Formats: sequence, structure tokens, C-alpha cells
Amino acid sequence: MKILSLFYLAASLLGVVAANDANQGHTKNSCIHLNAPHVPGANVISIKAMELLNHTVPATPPFLLDSIYGLNVCEVDVVLTHPGADDQVLVKVWLPLEDWNGRFQANGGSGYAAGEFDLTLGPSVKLGYSSASTDAGVAVNPLTPETWALLPNGSVNMVTLTNFAYRSIHDMAIVGKEITEQFYGSKARYSYWNGCSTGGRQAMVAAQRYPDLFDGILAGAPAIFWASYVVAEQWPQVVMREENTFPSQCELKAFTDAAIAQCDELDGIKDGIISDPDLCHFDPYRLVGTCVCCNGIEVTISEAVARVVLKTLQGPFGPSGQSLWYGLNVGTALDFLVNTTVVSGQRVGLPFFVNDAWIRYYLAKDANYNIGDIDYSTFDRLLSQSEREYGSIIGTDNPDLSGFQKAGGKLLMWHGLSDQLIFPKGTIDYRDRVERLMGGSAKVNEFFRLFLAPGVDHCAGTPTLGAVPSDPLGALVTWVEEKKAPATLAASVSGSQRGARILCPYPLVAHYVGGNPRSAQSFQCI
Ligand SMILES: *[C@@H]1O[C@H](CO)[C@@H](O)[C@H](O)[C@H]1NC(C)=O
Ligand SMILES: *[C@@H]1O[C@H](CO)[C@@H](O)[C@H](O)[C@H]1NC(C)=O
Ligand SMILES: *[C@@H]1O[C@H](CO)[C@@H](O)[C@H](O)[C@H]1NC(C)=O
Repeated sequence: MKILSLFYLAASLLGVVAANDANQGHTKNSCIHLNAPHVPGANVISIKAMELLNHTVPATPPFLLDSIYGLNVCEVDVVLTHPGADDQVLVKVWLPLEDWNGRFQANGGSGYAAGEFDLTLGPSVKLGYSSASTDAGVAVNPLTPETWALLPNGSVNMVTLTNFAYRSIHDMAIVGKEITEQFYGSKARYSYWNGCSTGGRQAMVAAQRYPDLFDGILAGAPAIFWASYVVAEQWPQVVMREENTFPSQCELKAFTDAAIAQCDELDGIKDGIISDPDLCHFDPYRLVGTCVCCNGIEVTISEAVARVVLKTLQGPFGPSGQSLWYGLNVGTALDFLVNTTVVSGQRVGLPFFVNDAWIRYYLAKDANYNIGDIDYSTFDRLLSQSEREYGSIIGTDNPDLSGFQKAGGKLLMWHGLSDQLIFPKGTIDYRDRVERLMGGSAKVNEFFRLFLAPGVDHCAGTPTLGAVPSDPLGALVTWVEEKKAPATLAASVSGSQRGARILCPYPLVAHYVGGNPRSAQSFQCI
């Protein structure tokens, strides 16, 4: 479902760009007086501005659940290039024509897209922010970098990779802030970054490489350690191949359900959510020999299937048993990374598109590389190659946030513990590294807080039982502007268990202390 949505996203993003071009000239321009901004390290090729009146941004789940109507904005397209790079980077800025809140917000992308354009600009402008989104000079397609990863001679295009990895974050902030100042005649009082997934990785680029650009940074499910975790996403596929066992989604769901049943109540309440997966000692072998009913057919869980699940939860191991990266949390759905498809009556592995594309284009440097052939030893080789060649470019895992701390910035990070695409344990690892380097938990909490959201999937993109942060941006703004650090993060549960919850700053975990389970007051951070 999500992959399908991403297709729609890609199509709609491409459509958006085309539609805007088509509209040129039909709209009256009262925001035409803007001049090309000065961007260090880049030359501006063009600047185009036009008013969008009573503008609609159509809903595009899971990225934008509800359509946004009635926007009145000045839309500014700035195209720039980096000397010697022969690239063309689009930065799009939307400026509210009325009720500007005095703030600037830069928005991140998803997958292989550096920006989601209207899908993030719309919500942000609706709140009164002047806002920016960029394509980083690469195709606006979250699904694959196929059009920009490789040069015609087959080597990796380092210009587009550099733009995508970090340079575009700087360009976008500079352009967005300067256009904002020109348009309103005064600087934005505060600047924010807002992104999830790739947008969360870009958030960390800002905190690590460009610590003066943003007063507040919101990083959801950050794709940090990209060079490691993206290859680790391939691990379950490698295990299935080595075990020659390709479980159905129905069998996999039996393991997820069994883990939740076993550990649900450890947090004091039976609600289908494991609040602290580390406390859950779930043994997949327990299910061996049990029968599950799949599409009306009884299937007996085999040892090999249990092994696939166990190794998926453990994460990749090297030849001498050393852990190479993290696995998924117990109780997480497995249908993205352990996915399969049927080819000529035979179930075969189906890799998730992010790892599939990364391995083919950036590691094998061959669009036709047969990813289904990756065995354990090839996997080890690919993982170390990825870390060696790309860790310093796109790893975004530098724990030294002293520049950001000195600049007075605040970083609010959150991550769903049932994220099945980006391993939450990697985010916790990063936080621990920052603590070790920067004086411990209390010191780090002064400028960087991590909130883990039990039961919540990647960027809250699929319906979940878990409580999703209700307004993390609002909490960040309060922290930055009123100096009130979030002691907890308000969160809400939708669906049949609708209610309010709290999320706790790591390492605390929300525990049910009695009372109405739908009320946030019934939970405490422990
Ligand atoms: C604004 O657009 C909506 C459709 O989204 C339309 O129904 C409404 O009449 C428009 N309002 C004006 C003032 O043009
Ligand atoms: C491919 O082309 C790029 C840019 O022209 C060049 O830097 C690189 O060395 C070439 N690689 C190979 C393997 O020829
Ligand atoms: C799993 O693969 C099937 C094709 O067999 C596809 O339709 C489905 O969307 C995939 N599921 C996920 C969660 O990616």
C-alpha cells in the first residue's frame, strides 16, 4: 500500500512541476519584484515568482492525509548551479500573502527525493510559515535514483550524490531565508527544519554540518547511518535466500501477533502495544509446529521460517558471529523488509525499493545487478563497501553537535518503535554516541531530546495502534521561543482506542499508572 502511495507521490510531484509551468503567465504577479538571492558556493540561474490564489494541495496519503484549500501564496522558484558541477537545483519557496507568522520553515524529502514540494509546503504555509522545499538537482522521485545515480560511463555521479546528501540543505536554507527577508522586508524571527525519514536525515545534516542555519530542528525517523542501515534492510532477503524459505505475509504476521500478545502488558496496560521492546524476550522458535490459518489453508510454522524471523529481529551477523547492524524491534510488522512475490507459481524474495536501488546503483554500479543472488559473504562485502565509500558522505552520523549547541539550537527527534524501514535501534545508538561525547544524558537533553513512539510505524505512515506525536513542531517552537523544553510529547491514538497519550524523553518509557486509559494523565514517564 505504501509503495503504491509512493508511486502516486512520485507521479503527483512530477505532475506538480508540470502544472506550475503550464500555469505560468495565467496568474497575475504581485510578487515579481524579488531579486536573485546570494548563495555562497552557487550561482543563481533564474528566479521566477507568481501568486497562487485560492490554491489547493490535494491529499496524497500517506504524506498528506487531507487536502489543503484556500492558500494564498507567492511562489518563488529559484534555480541555481554549483560552479564546475553542471547541475541545476530548484529551490521552491512559498510565502503566505497574509498572516505570515514571522518564521521560516525548510522541509525535507522522502526516499530518494530531497523534497516533497507542495505536500510539505502546503501544511507549513497553512500554519503561517514561509517555507521552502528543494529537489537538490535530482529527480523528484522517492522510489529510485535511476536517472541520476550513475554517469554515462558507469561511475557514480558524485555531484548529484553530494547535492542529495548534504549540499542542498544549505542552499535551500540560504535561498529560503533571503527570499523571505526580501518579500516581507524583515528577516524571519526564527528558522526551523522539519522532516521525516530522508527529511530526518537532512535534519541531522543541518545539525552536524550547518549548525547555524536553524534555531529548531524536527527530525522524525531519521535515516542516519544511511550507508549501513540501507544495506541492512537487505538482510532479511539474504536470509530467506540462504534458508531457501520464503514465508507468506500471513505466517510473518503470526510472529508479530505472538510477540505483542506475549509482551503487551509489560507496560501495565493491554492495548496491543509493546512500550519497551528491549524488555520483550520473544523466541520465534516457540511458534514452530503451530498452525496458522492463511487464506483458509492451515499452514504449519517451520523451523526455517522461525529462523528467518529470528535473524530479521537480530539483524545482520558476520562470518564470526559479530553483529553488523541492528534488526527490527519485536512486535514490528515484517511485510516491507521480508516481502515476497510469486513468480511462475513460486514464492521469491522481493527487496524493499530503497535497499534494492542503493545496492544496484551505488554498490554494484549496475542497474541490472541481480540482487536476488546476494548470499551471506556478498552481503558482508556490500555492507563494508557501502560504509567505506559513502559513510562520510551520506552517513550523517557525526555525534559532535557542539556547533549546534553553541549556536543555541534545539533538536527534537522522534522515532516510531515499530518502524519497519529504519531501525529504531540505530537512532538510539546515535543518541547514545552523542551522550558519550557531549557530557551525558542531562547535558544533551538541554538541546537534543529523543522521543520514542511505541507501536508507531515509519513516520506514522501506516495506521497503527501506537500513539503518534500530535504536534511535535509546536513543541519545538515552544522550546525554541519560550525556552520551555518538552518534558513529555503529547501524542494521540486514533481508531477504536482513540485517546491521548504521552511520549517520554529517552530513556524514559510511558507507564500506565491507573485511571482512564484514553487519558494522557493515566501515564507517567518511568
Ligand atoms: C476557492 O476554491 C474553491 C475550490 O477549492 C471554490 O469552491 C471557491 O469558490 C473558490 N473561492 C474563490 C473566492 O474563488
Ligand atoms: C567517468 O567520467 C567521470 C566524469 O567525466 C570521470 O571523472 C571518471 O573518471 C570516469 N570514470 C571512468 C571509470 O572512466
Ligand atoms: C509486498 O509485495 C507485494 C507483491 O508481492 C506488493 O504488492 C506489496 O505492496 C508489498 N508489500 C509491501 C508492504 O511493500
